[in-house]
Amino acid sequence: MNFDKNLPYSQIGTKKGKPMLPKKLQTLLSQKLQEKRTDGTYKAERIIQGPQGPEISLADASKPVLNFCANNYLGLSNHPAIKEAAQKTLETHGFGMSSVRFICGTQDIHKELEQAVSAFLGTEDTILYTSCFDANGGLFENLLGAEDVIISASLNHASIIDGVRLCKAQRKVFQYDKLNELEECLLGSQTDGLKVVVTDGVFSMEGLLAPLDRIAPLCRKYGAILVVDDSHATGFMGENGRGTAEHCGVQEEVDLFTSTFGKALGGASGGYISGKKECVEWFRNCSRPYLFSNSLAPSLVGGALKALEIIRGEEGDTLRARLHENTRYFREKMMACGFRINESPHPIVPIMLGEATVAAGMAEDLLKEGIYVIGFSYPVVPKGAARIRVQISAAHTREQLDLAITAFERLGKRYGVVEWWSDGVME
Ligand SMILES: Cc1ncc(COP(=O)(O)O)c(C=O)c1O
Repeated sequence: MNFDKNLPYSQIGTKKGKPMLPKKLQTLLSQKLQEKRTDGTYKAERIIQGPQGPEISLADASKPVLNFCANNYLGLSNHPAIKEAAQKTLETHGFGMSSVRFICGTQDIHKELEQAVSAFLGTEDTILYTSCFDANGGLFENLLGAEDVIISASLNHASIIDGVRLCKAQRKVFQYDKLNELEECLLGSQTDGLKVVVTDGVFSMEGLLAPLDRIAPLCRKYGAILVVDDSHATGFMGENGRGTAEHCGVQEEVDLFTSTFGKALGGASGGYISGKKECVEWFRNCSRPYLFSNSLAPSLVGGALKALEIIRGEEGDTLRARLHENTRYFREKMMACGFRINESPHPIVPIMLGEATVAAGMAEDLLKEGIYVIGFSYPVVPKGAARIRVQISAAHTREQLDLAITAFERLGKRYGVVEWWSDGVME
């Protein structure tokens, strides 16, 4: 193939020439992608011009739009003090590590961030990963063997499912909120090996909380290890923002937490496992995404340290209070409009719409009204359970929330999806 060094980036991939793919694969992929376009499950990416925030500029929109689909729960993604900390760390610790942690990729700040996370959560030790996807991918494989059992909640994130798949332990699934199912799984696991229960703290497509106050005692009763992925709760759920376990009053009873720096904690990237020190030491020696992948970049570490400092201070309290007040307001108003949404204190608010084409069409029309939201459909959620997932932030103003509610109401009527209530009772 001839490489044209002067081809503008925007024209990469547009040159006509000999097809690079075998014809069979090309035909298959184009058929499958067409199917996705037809059934409304094709995922197009919108280009943001500028930083993340409650109001953003999109490349294909004529004016700025209000953003209701970021995990920017506390509004820290473009926080001046976090950016300054990241910039400073860039100066003091350089751009990249060019190494994995155990060769020559561990700096003082990596250790500092691990200690800061442990201090925040009240755990014994923490190990950093370049994402929470990697943390979940590296947790199970070398910890558990064929004699062990993993009991996984039904709505768990893809990264837990993939992490579990990598290990040889027996697998069981319980419906995330059915404690009798969990108990049956625990009782039915006649093994001399380990029992591990793993659940998201908050299920990302639903905004529903795992009932950790009831899961933890069962784990204790049957001697199971409890692992919680708290990606959608760290920083803002619970009185001090420690997450779902704090919210449920069982912070001390979780053996291992996994979470991300890519959502409320500044929203850049990076993840961790935090908990029992013996486990963390084992992961440093045997967890493959840690051993065989580059260290978290220094500027990300510096930014995450500042984000944690903010979250643990007075500003964190203020932002959490604002986030929960915004969430309560939005949920109440949307329910009053007649939309079908679940009951939860969480800023993920799924507006249930049923058909993928309705969710995609309505999201598209909302964008025309200046409200940026995303329709989710199969395979991300079950068939027939398509929805628009709204995400509230502490950075949204009351006026912005009202603009979104008004636009939803107008379009909800047009699409005929606000008929879910009869006599004030949800069907
Ligand atoms: C529950 C859960 N776990 C893990 C992840 C992955 O986090 P990261 O972006 O750090 O890989 C996500 C992100 O969507 C998530 O929602």
